[in-house]
Order: sequence, then structure tokens, then C-alpha cells
Amino acid sequence: MLAPDHRATIDATLPVVAANATAITGRFYARMLDAHPELRNLFNQGNQASGEQKQALAAAVYAYAQYCDTPDAIEPLLNRIAHKHASLGIAADMYTIVGRHLMAAIGEILGDAVTAEIAEAWDTVYWRFAGELIAREAVLYQDAGITPATFLREYEVIERVAEGGVAVSLRLRPTDDGPAPAFRPGQYVSVQVDLADIGLRQLRQYSLSDAADGQTLRITVKQEAGDDVRPDGLVSMHLARHADIGSRWLVSNPFGDLALDPDADTPVVMISAGVGITPMAAMRRHLSRQQRQGVFVHVAAHGGRHILKRELTPAAHLTDLIVYDAARVEDRLGTDHHHAGRFTLAEHRDTIVRPDADYYLCGPLPFMTAQREALLDLGVPANRVHFEVFGPDLLTATL
Ligand SMILES: Cc1cc2nc3c(=O)[nH]c(=O)nc-3n(C[C@H](O)[C@H](O)[C@H](O)COP(=O)(O)OP(=O)(O)OC[C@H]3O[C@@H](n4cnc5c(N)ncnc54)[C@H](O)[C@@H]3O)c2cc1C
Ligand code: HEM
Repeated sequence: MLAPDHRATIDATLPVVAANATAITGRFYARMLDAHPELRNLFNQGNQASGEQKQALAAAVYAYAQYCDTPDAIEPLLNRIAHKHASLGIAADMYTIVGRHLMAAIGEILGDAVTAEIAEAWDTVYWRFAGELIAREAVLYQDAGITPATFLREYEVIERVAEGGVAVSLRLRPTDDGPAPAFRPGQYVSVQVDLADIGLRQLRQYSLSDAADGQTLRITVKQEAGDDVRPDGLVSMHLARHADIGSRWLVSNPFGDLALDPDADTPVVMISAGVGITPMAAMRRHLSRQQRQGVFVHVAAHGGRHILKRELTPAAHLTDLIVYDAARVEDRLGTDHHHAGRFTLAEHRDTIVRPDADYYLCGPLPFMTAQREALLDLGVPANRVHFEVFGPDLLTATL
């Protein structure tokens, strides 16, 4: 529990911190990355440019300050961040750097309003948050048999499959001839690439898109090609251009809190859109091996954009509902998709809603928010609805 005087100070200052939260976290990143340019390799430059990184940090600190004495409320947030950090090799000593620059940024933005008493209360909240993350990350590293210094392992591409023109699937095998790590369906790895032209290394997360086989891992990377306004995605386009068979890449151990309990026998409902199909493809493969009940709902624009379509072989205990919201004439209704037009979950409630099921969502944020609301409206308990955000999570802290 926060001491009563700290709680009173935090409650009194939360509104002003909230009103200035992204200014504070924006200033924090700027001053920390100026002082430690080597950390630019660690932080996703795309998320820096979009502002999502500072929003995610601000939302997390705000949520933690409010709910740190309600463990059930804060658990999903702590898990999400700890898994992400473990996939990036974050070490305990880095928290001192972050803490120093975060507190300094609060001082710079709020100025004289930050009394010694206020600074002490927020410093206490920061270190409680840090302590909880450090403890969780230590367990994740220990369970994986790695340390932050050894979080990357070299893999070789042994299979490359183009998924229409939109994505590429890469099957990876460790070059040290050891077995591939175990993982739960739904988890992801971080892949590191060297971007010599901009003098940076960058890490990105990719969900494992096939069930574990003990020897290999497979990822499926959507190509984020640029246009007049947006530059090419740094890592996805680098992999699309250079991840040929025989090429070698540094890859983290699998982590991620959106994951099936592989041994349970309750039904699983997977609902995805676009490239959000990747963790669901691993889940679907696992369920079909396990002969466990499942519903697989996927929304794609049309057959040409339906990633991993070739893997949808029917299975007796799995119900598939494939929706093309902009179907082409060559897309065959009843064969490669079951519904053409806009997807409305309630319209398919008889197929989708199952007693005792867990629901997994993955796709763009507005898609997941809509499906989550629709499920709750249909009486599904909130703790049964899980989701994966393919970017800084701007959802968990706001629920
Ligand atoms: C848990 C998790 C799992 C994921 N799983 C998958 C998966 O299975 N498959 C998959 O394909 N992806 C997945 N992702 C997303 C993936 O990690 C990357 O975010 C994605 O590949 C884009 O990275 P990038 O380096 O290519 O693009 P970035 O360089 O990070 O850019 C991202 C976007 O921002 C735009 N952008 C960048 N800078 C600017 C700027 N200055 N101005 C305007 N726009 C800009 C780019 O054009 C691009 O569209 C996952 C993410 C997470 C967090
Ligand atoms: C109490 C301290 C910290 C908090 C509250 C915090 C919070 C967060 C949050 C909310 C995210 C986004 C998670 C997501 O993707 O959903 C994140 C990601 C990240 N954090 Fe932390 N973090 C802390 C400490 C650190 C430290 C010490 C480092 C290392 C210097 C670090 C490096 C990163 C990186 C590199 C990412 C990924 C950024 C991206 O992909 O855009 N964090 N953190």
C-alpha cells in the first residue's frame, strides 16, 4: 500500500499530471535519448515518430498511480509491459536511467508546482512500478534460461513463403543446432535488424504464426510499404528485401501475455482482422492438433489480402467464419469466405458466442474495441476477452 500521505499527494496531483502526461513523457524521451544515444537502438523509431510510445508510457504511469493498490486491476498492465520488456532485453539497471529522466521531465514541465513532497510521492510510485516490473522480468528471464545480456539468439531462414503480395512468412531455425524454444500459441518474438543506412539497430515484435514443433519458429511479416506521406516501414521492408533463405537474424526468446493455456480444454474463439491473423493461426493449428473446440473468425479485405489463407484446411471441431469486406469477383463465397460485406459480430452471435469460451482478439485498435464491446453486450464476461495490440498498447491502461 502507498503510505497515506503519498496517496493523498498522488490523488491531489493526478489531474495536473494527467493534463500534462504526454508533454512529460515526450520531454522524458527527448532528454533520455540525448543523454544516452545508444538507447535509440532499443526504442522503436516508428512509435517515436507517431507519438504512440509516449502515449503508452503516460497512460501506464497514470493507470499505475491510480490503481497500484488494487492488484487485480493492474495485473494485465504489468504483465503486458514485462513481457514486452523481456522481449527487448531490458535490464534492471536501466530503470535508474529511466527514473532519473522521468522525474527530471516532470520537474521541467510542471516547474515550481513540483514541491519536494510531490517529487517524493511520484518518485515512490515510479520505484514501486519499476520494482514490480523488474521482479516479473527477472522471472521471465529465469524461466527462459536467459539474461538480458543473452536475450538474442541467431536463427537462419530455412523457408520463405510470399503471402499474396502483402506479407512474407519466414521459418527460422537456430544456427547453434539446439532445439527451438517452447512457447504458448499467441506469443511473439522480437527480431533485430541492422539498418546500416541510418546507423541504427531496431527491434520489432512478430507473433509466431505456427504452432511449436520443437525445431523451428515461424513469423509472418506484413510489408509496410510507404507512400507519398509515410516512409517505408523500417524493419518489415528490410526483412521483405533481405530475409532470403540462408540469411541469419538475431531473434529473442518467445514472450507475450496473450497466449492460450495449451493444456486447458475449454473452447477458444479467435477473432482477427488483417495481419492480426498471425497469433490466431498458431492457436488454430494448436487447437486442431489438440482436437479442442474452437471458432476461428477472420476479416480480410478480399482473397488477395487474406494472409495464411492456404492454411485454412477444415477441421471437424473448429468452426471457421471468414469475412471479406471488399470481396472481388474471383473470391468464392462458401469456399474461401463465408460472408461478404461488413462484419458485425452480433449478426453471427450463434456461431461466435460459446459457453465457457475464452475470446482472443487481434487486429487494428478500432476493430478490437468494437468486437470487445459487442462481446460484452452479448453477456461475455470482460475477463474472458483477451487482445493483442500490434504496437504500443493504448488499450489496456484505459480499460
Ligand atoms: C506483440 C506484437 C506482435 C506483432 N506481430 C506482428 C506480426 O505477426 N506480423 C506483422 O507484420 N507485424 C506484427 N507486429 C507489428 C511489427 O512489430 C511492426 O510494428 C511492423 O512490422 C512495422 O514495423 P516497421 O519497422 O516495418 O515499421 P516502422 O518503421 O516502425 O513504421 C511503422 C509505420 O509508421 C510509419 N511511419 C514511420 N515513421 C513515420 C514518420 N516520420 N511519419 C509518418 N509515418 C511514419 C511507417 O510508414 C509505417 O507505416 C507486431 C507488433 C507487436 C507489438
Ligand atoms: C517503471 C518504469 C517503466 C514503465 C512504466 C514502462 C512502461 C512501458 C510501456 C507502457 C511500454 C509499452 C508496452 C506496450 O507495447 O504495450 C513500454 C515499452 C518499452 N519500454 Fe518501458 N517502461 C519502464 C521502464 C523501461 C526501461 C528501464 C527501459 C529501458 C531503457 C524501457 C524500454 C522500453 C522499450 C524499448 C519499449 C518498447 C517501445 C516501443 O516498442 O515503442 N522501459 N514500456
